[in-house]
Amino acid sequence: MKGKVDRLMAEMTLAEKIGQLNLLPAGEGLVTGAAQATTLAQRLAAGQVGAVFGTKSLASARAMQERAIAGSRLGIPLFFAEDVIHGHRTIFPLPVALACSWDVGLIEKTAAFAAAEASAEGQHVVFSPMIDIARDPRWGRVAESPGEDPLLASRIAVAMTRGLQGPDMLAPGRVAACLKHFVAYGATQSGRDYDNASLAWEDLLGIYLPPFAAGCEAGAACVMASFNAVNKVPMHAHAPLIEGWLRGRNGFDGLVVSDYTGVKELTAHRLGPAPVAVVRALFAGIDMDMVGEDYLRELPTLAEAGIDAPEAGLALSSAAIRDLTDRACRRVLTLKERLGLLDDPFRGLGATGAAPKRQAGRKLARRAAAQSVVLLKNNAVLPLSSKARVALVGPFARDRRNMLGTWSVSGNADDVVSLDEAVAALTGKAPRTAWGVNIVEEPWLEQRLNVHGVTVEHDARSEAELIEEALAVARQADVIVVTVGEAKEHAGESSSCLSPDLPAPHHRLIAALKQTGKPVVVVVFAGRPLALGGAAEVADALLYAWHGGVAGPEGVADILFGAATPSGRLCVTLPAHPGEVPLSYAEEPTGRPYRGHFQKFLTGWLDLPDTARRYPFGFGLGYSEVRYGTPSLSVTVAAADDRVVLTVRVQNAGPREATETVQLYASDPVARITRPARFLIDFQQVTLAAGECREVSFQIDADQFRYPIAPSLEAAEWVRDPGLVQLHVGPNSRDTQSLDLTWLA
Ligand code: BGC
Repeated sequence: MKGKVDRLMAEMTLAEKIGQLNLLPAGEGLVTGAAQATTLAQRLAAGQVGAVFGTKSLASARAMQERAIAGSRLGIPLFFAEDVIHGHRTIFPLPVALACSWDVGLIEKTAAFAAAEASAEGQHVVFSPMIDIARDPRWGRVAESPGEDPLLASRIAVAMTRGLQGPDMLAPGRVAACLKHFVAYGATQSGRDYDNASLAWEDLLGIYLPPFAAGCEAGAACVMASFNAVNKVPMHAHAPLIEGWLRGRNGFDGLVVSDYTGVKELTAHRLGPAPVAVVRALFAGIDMDMVGEDYLRELPTLAEAGIDAPEAGLALSSAAIRDLTDRACRRVLTLKERLGLLDDPFRGLGATGAAPKRQAGRKLARRAAAQSVVLLKNNAVLPLSSKARVALVGPFARDRRNMLGTWSVSGNADDVVSLDEAVAALTGKAPRTAWGVNIVEEPWLEQRLNVHGVTVEHDARSEAELIEEALAVARQADVIVVTVGEAKEHAGESSSCLSPDLPAPHHRLIAALKQTGKPVVVVVFAGRPLALGGAAEVADALLYAWHGGVAGPEGVADILFGAATPSGRLCVTLPAHPGEVPLSYAEEPTGRPYRGHFQKFLTGWLDLPDTARRYPFGFGLGYSEVRYGTPSLSVTVAAADDRVVLTVRVQNAGPREATETVQLYASDPVARITRPARFLIDFQQVTLAAGECREVSFQIDADQFRYPIAPSLEAAEWVRDPGLVQLHVGPNSRDTQSLDLTWLA
């Protein structure tokens, strides 16, 4: 018996099929201010839209659905999509911040909450999770990413997909996930947004693709292509990666959407004019064309006449193009069927979307914010006593707007409790605050913010006057908490920066405050890992707080005063100097490896004598002292199908509860190609009461040591060599204890 999709496909005209491939923004909705029908309204009336993204209310989505059904001869409904990157109305910490919690259960909960809020407003699909590995802090989209490590990112991809889709995507409060951006968007040249990526196929397979494999395995319904080229082929035309790897090798059977005008941009990539771009994209497996409408414009003619473009090396018959159109349309309809929309076009668009309770969201957001904060240094200053007289200074002391972070499209800065308010609520006493310095001190930054149409809170006084005011407040306090970092527009899409470090005035502010002789607690609010330079040395305590969402400052206050205990661990390496990026703990050794300080003829930089000031991946402190015992292995020589158990005792030797993330890395001393110096193979989070001791065990199997060899993408194979491997267990990627294990053939 034919299914619904087959029946529709049999009845649809070519024009109707092409209409399904059009993915448009909601924009102004159905009418303009002058009450004229918008382009969207016209397209809906003509049956030329498959889906709409960015509707801002249930009522407008419902009105569009009514219009779409009336405009479609066969009554085919739209699906609605939205960018729900780290929360919908309730904004959680930035993804890079949440990843620092290393708590995949928590991440799943935040995704589930966001899904419930979005679905209550009629969304069926969210353009999330963003699972691009990011190792270059210059790239502004580090903010949206799960960090630098493929294993951690893969676990997050699974957690996010589960949180969004649940066990059943059709259950109330769930939405379809869209993994993005496929692929290697984080590997773009010099960290410039939209630039191209040239990388070894082994790196693509071993670093950038695993989170996508994991998200697909978890059942993600949709994938979005990325703007960059990979090894000379723009991703919107990359048939070997989309049809070949994603669908062919990896078995993905969902929908692939373009990114915003990604099909059109193939022309700027110099692949050819619009008809060539359209055929290349459709052939590569891009099923829906977001915003650009090139499919809508070009496909009718292409499907009649075919294409013969020798200058672009492209020829395809009209029949082949009709087949490709069918293939794409079938995938759009299949997603609609999976979303239940072919049975009930108004699914999720009922009059009363059951939104989850905002209070529950705030509670979760506060917990998530506290867990995302990474304590980098503490000279016995923190936690602060609630009786301490606190001076709270710097540009984020009273800030709300920046706390939401980038890609918080449906968030509201009024929902943010600022740090001064959070401290007052927690301690019962308002801290003395001072502005310190403006967030935006350099003309180019100001210009940048103007590009985003943002009005910057600006104090016309000079830096010297502002610092003087901060000092006046600081002199009357027992302890100074100084907030520094970057504005929310400094990180995010199209916000790459040349030098990812703390702005110079922030360094000057910290140095001036240090002169008071009072303890200085530095809190960094940022969207990317910034090189902190001298600030890290000057600080008596240092917290990396990212942009923490609606409850970000409350999470920071909880950590500052010990209402929560710090458990965050870096999901990215913090550089010692901005010039050493891109970087990762997993760099490959060279023939002349760096030995902890610069020496002639060893890998390194003349003008960076010591990278020890880097904060390594996985690093973070707590308020307790956690001690590791000597790890042991169940066997030291194992057969290929053995399961080896590594056990290590961790003891909370301090007076407070501690949450410890026990990290297990491996290295492969003899391989066929260069391998990472070490790579994360597992981790476990344990919460230990004061004095508690626990055995943590990891199951290890030979498959965890497989690695790709790839003279070409098509010829790629995953191999494993018998012999010695090393295991490294500890609290971060640097401070580990090592064990040898030999795998037999
Ligand atoms: C971004 C995507 C986003 C899309 C739709 C693009 O500019 O790259 O991440 O989903 O816009 O808003």
